Amino acid sequence: MLGRLNHVAIAVKDAEKAAKIYGAAFGADISAAVPLPEHGVITVFVTLPNTKIEFIQPLGEASPIAKFLERNADGGIHHICYDVPDIIAARDILMKEGARVLGDGNPKIGAHGKPVLFLHPKDFSGALVEIEQA
Ligand code: CO
Repeated sequence: MLGRLNHVAIAVKDAEKAAKIYGAAFGADISAAVPLPEHGVITVFVTLPNTKIEFIQPLGEASPIAKFLERNADGGIHHICYDVPDIIAARDILMKEGARVLGDGNPKIGAHGKPVLFLHPKDFSGALVEIEQA
């Protein structure tokens, strides 16, 4: 059920600024900034041959990454995202195995227009995990 590494997300105060060095120094493809009000973030994606880096910056006062940036003022790795073929089936198996799903347990539409869910970091070795329907 576990698919490709979809992306690694890095929380920063300015996503476009953070992504710029990947374009300038690494020559990587950088996306435009995309606001995701439902998730409380603005995202900029850097596309690599085998995965993506997602820079996220807070959007709005209730942004879920505001606290993280208070603790990590220079930014830091925030979550990793795996593809799954069927997000509802994946959620049900994960919950049966004791993993906690964040929020109300229903997928939201993520940055790629596909359903996503977040899983409690305490159940995944201290790493916040996102799953995305492939
Ligand atoms: Co993500």
